[in-house]
Amino acid sequence: MSLTHMDILVINSSTGTYNGTLKTYLLLQVDIRDEDALDAVFASTRFDAVIHFAGLKAVGESVQKPLFYYDHNIAGTINLLKVMAAHECKKLVFSSSAAVYGSPKNSPCTEEFPLLPHNPYGRTKLMAEEICRDIYRSDSEWRIILLRYFNPVGAHPSGYLGEDPRGVPNNLMPYVQQVAVGRRPSVTIFGNNYATKDGTGVRDYIHVLDLAEGHIAALRKLFDSSSNIGCEPYNLGTGKGTSVLEIVNAFEKASGKKIPLVIGQRRPGDAEILFAGTGKAERELNWKAKYGITEMCRDQWNWASKNPYGYGSPDSTKQNGSNSH
Ligand code: UFG
Repeated sequence: MSLTHMDILVINSSTGTYNGTLKTYLLLQVDIRDEDALDAVFASTRFDAVIHFAGLKAVGESVQKPLFYYDHNIAGTINLLKVMAAHECKKLVFSSSAAVYGSPKNSPCTEEFPLLPHNPYGRTKLMAEEICRDIYRSDSEWRIILLRYFNPVGAHPSGYLGEDPRGVPNNLMPYVQQVAVGRRPSVTIFGNNYATKDGTGVRDYIHVLDLAEGHIAALRKLFDSSSNIGCEPYNLGTGKGTSVLEIVNAFEKASGKKIPLVIGQRRPGDAEILFAGTGKAERELNWKAKYGITEMCRDQWNWASKNPYGYGSPDSTKQNGSNSH
């Protein structure tokens, strides 16, 4: 069974405190915009905490279909929070994004930087954060961690789990991967005249395994009764900037494939350089990314070479659809 942007996956620790041992796994598929269905899930058992990933995430699509984004990401989040409160479940880890910062003037970008998203996707993340801050102000029993993801890439090292965007990939790494397996002819570099080491855009790529560990660290913090967590944001990144050309070179090495490049125009709204300040997560969550670009490309290629058409077949990958996390 695969999850979509509308689904919730519920993992229930029957111990009442999170101690790293999950005793019950429950997989249900529910549209988080359906309050009654969500309520029925929360009525069926007692949940200790929620990790909320059920959001749409394609920047370009959010510009084309803002209401679609506000409906899923905001209305869905409000439903979830209402139902959680009604069932006295007040611990939340929320998937936010570095998109809340927009294009900061300098990096490393820390959690105190101004929040100036410049697309509807980023605004839905900021609004959801503000909603979380407001509910905490209204009821101090809430404990909420907002995780601001930088650029998640890579795949599970088993090669069984990886990203499988529908339609044309929005992001660099899945695009490079599809070129490497022969599904697309070349990668277009969105501008090579930035004031960066090689002229191409610089980002903070983070391995999905490190990202997953960040969520575990956040859960531990929520269940640590010695800390007054309140509602706090944390960046999840490596703190290192990598250019588009560096990513392509690393992927060529990992895959042994040549990735043909075309130099294109800058993509409107793209930041020049964006990487995370990670000190707060290191100090307060006791979490630090372990993997570098070499491991990210190695695991991405392992997934891609074993599953060149993702979870589908050559025909099933032609449809268009929304990307979600
Ligand atoms: N890029 C290319 N060619 C492509 C795709 C991307 O050159 O085909 C470049 C971009 O210009 C950028 C870099 O590769 O310099 C990374 O682009 P991505 O689209 O992979 O990622 P972004 O940094 O633009 O966006 C990511 C997430 C968003 C989130 C944002 C927050 O995908 O959801 O980080 O900063 F909003």
